[in-house]
Amino acid sequence: MRLDKYISDAMICSRSEADRYIKTGKITVDGKTVKKPDHKVTEKNEICFNGEKLFYSEFIYIMMNKPQGVISATDDPKNIEKTVLSLLPENYLTKGLFPAGRLDKDTVGLLILTNDGKSAHRLLSPKHHVDKTYYVECDKDFAEKDIEICKNGVILDGELTKPCILTIDCEKKNCGTMVLTEGKYHEIKRICNHLGKNVTFLERITFGNLSLDRNLERGMWRHLTPGEVGVLLK
Ligand code: URA
Repeated sequence: MRLDKYISDAMICSRSEADRYIKTGKITVDGKTVKKPDHKVTEKNEICFNGEKLFYSEFIYIMMNKPQGVISATDDPKNIEKTVLSLLPENYLTKGLFPAGRLDKDTVGLLILTNDGKSAHRLLSPKHHVDKTYYVECDKDFAEKDIEICKNGVILDGELTKPCILTIDCEKKNCGTMVLTEGKYHEIKRICNHLGKNVTFLERITFGNLSLDRNLERGMWRHLTPGEVGVLLK
């Protein structure tokens, strides 16, 4: 691939910024300064910026701790709502990132953002049953019988939900975790409504085999490590 594309992907910058780095001699390929943006490189070359080795990844995978009040969308056509993308630096906005699945505006927690359309599609496809765990607080206590009801599924708009595993908190009976293997619209809130309660707080804490990084404050994000990407896509 062209050196400017490699730099723009590896450094998450625009092609024109990449060109500037190359033309001002900041980039070396296998130890030699290369000033031509169209110079061809492969993943076998060692490419450095100011002497530091760069790592190439075709796609970007981000874990965000979504805060309340932002929508899980790439843009808001009416320009009223703040989107999760607006929490990323500007140089990320031209990289084709989108949220893999949605959380409601008032739901917080683990959200994956990526520009890997194929993998995101697979992760979200009902065929693949990727579990998502939510921590939920309600305005009323859960009852033991709610566990069985969630497991058997409830009818929402004429459709039976897939089994949902409810675990009630030992001390605070109005709190618990719920594991979903599908993503119907407002599914947790509607299941809880069906059980006669209103959700007062909802946080996603796992997505497949990934758990929310508790070091990430609300509204903060980080790249997934290569290991985490492997776990996510497995
Ligand atoms: N279920 C909901 O009701 N809301 C979410 O944001 C996610 C799951």
